[in-house]
Amino acid sequence: MRIQWLTVAAAASLATLSWAQSIPSCAAACLESALTQSTCDATDFACICKDTQLMSSVETCTLASCNVIDALSAKNTTGALCGDEIRDNTVVTPVVTAVSGFFAVVAVGMRLFEWHSQSEIHWADLCAVSALVCTVVMGILEFFMSADGFGKDIWTIEPYKIERIVKFTWLTEIFYFAALGLTKITVLLFYLRVFPHQGMKMTCLISIGVCAAFTAAFTLAIIFHCWPIEYGWTSWTGETQGQCFDLNAFVWAHASISIVLDVWIMLIPVTTLLKLQLGTRKKVNLLIMFGIGIFITIVSCIRLSSFSTFANTANPTYDNVATAYWSVLEAYVSVICCCLPAVRSLLRRVLPSCFGSTDGSVPTATYALSKRSGANPNTGIKKSVTNVITFQQRSNESDTFELVDGDNVQHTDYKGW
Ligand SMILES: *[C@@H]1O[C@H](CO)[C@@H](O)[C@H](O)[C@H]1NC(C)=O
Repeated sequence: MRIQWLTVAAAASLATLSWAQSIPSCAAACLESALTQSTCDATDFACICKDTQLMSSVETCTLASCNVIDALSAKNTTGALCGDEIRDNTVVTPVVTAVSGFFAVVAVGMRLFEWHSQSEIHWADLCAVSALVCTVVMGILEFFMSADGFGKDIWTIEPYKIERIVKFTWLTEIFYFAALGLTKITVLLFYLRVFPHQGMKMTCLISIGVCAAFTAAFTLAIIFHCWPIEYGWTSWTGETQGQCFDLNAFVWAHASISIVLDVWIMLIPVTTLLKLQLGTRKKVNLLIMFGIGIFITIVSCIRLSSFSTFANTANPTYDNVATAYWSVLEAYVSVICCCLPAVRSLLRRVLPSCFGSTDGSVPTATYALSKRSGANPNTGIKKSVTNVITFQQRSNESDTFELVDGDNVQHTDYKGW
């Protein structure tokens, strides 16, 4: 009886303090019981805020006895009373998005202009444009998220905005998955057009199939990663019912497979290109191409390392900023890279003095790529097959050379990278 009365009296006295009225009652109760263990007076904030043991026991108690929205509100109020530093990283993602997005739009524009002026619009271009559309939608969503407070501590954001940020994060993931898959397919379609050999075509077609299946599977999976779907952006309140699969394991799996596919796509042309006797300049161009491929892989790996907190953090609106801008950067850099052959070809046409070829000493040269000969011991018939590559210097497109397959005299233009 007596103990109960004491508690009521203490609660009443605490309630007369104005700050105690601004925090949810569950958190006020936590603070009150923690104060009995502390030497601090209930009005002495300087003392309360400095007492880390008191603050951490209040936090533990609050998380256990309040719902999420009340716990966040309590954290906000104590933060305000203690004069906690307000952290704000909302600018980073929009800046990264705007800068890399601008270059991606320019690269795709140049690609379309270049192939169009040569009346050569292909499936690969359609694919590149689709990838750009996905990344632009993703980028626009990042702007909305930042406007809602993505980049600030979660307890400083109003609950309806938190919900919108979580929903938009899910949408950006869908477009990110689609964009990355489309850029891989764009590069493979380009190979398909450029390398005439049958074995190479087969490798490319199979790789396109693998990339398409990978992209479709992961995009569908992220759309339905929670059931019901809206549970994905309402579950953080702890007040709704539903089920989700482990998002962290899932994004790790996606990023790892994506990196493996990127390295594979980078390696596909190596065997063919190593057999070509290229001039120094073309070798440098190839190195640049691989350098960029390696750059994408590095960006992917940095993004992967930013995952350590993703999906497991209690403060996602602040902790996931790095994952967000590395994802945006990775997507836009991938779009830029798959347009580089066209960009280079256009620059060489428009500004030949800066980007023109310098190793055009041999106007036309023919090299034997491989020579297979053999005699059938039974019939005595000798067979000899020679694959010939003709490098043809053209007056206006000095660095363009042709791959000529000696067997079926198939011409394919290969625009040097
Ligand atoms: C508390 O939340 C409001 C918005 O709801 C925010 O403006 C303010 O900065 C927050 N204060 C602290 C200390 O977190």
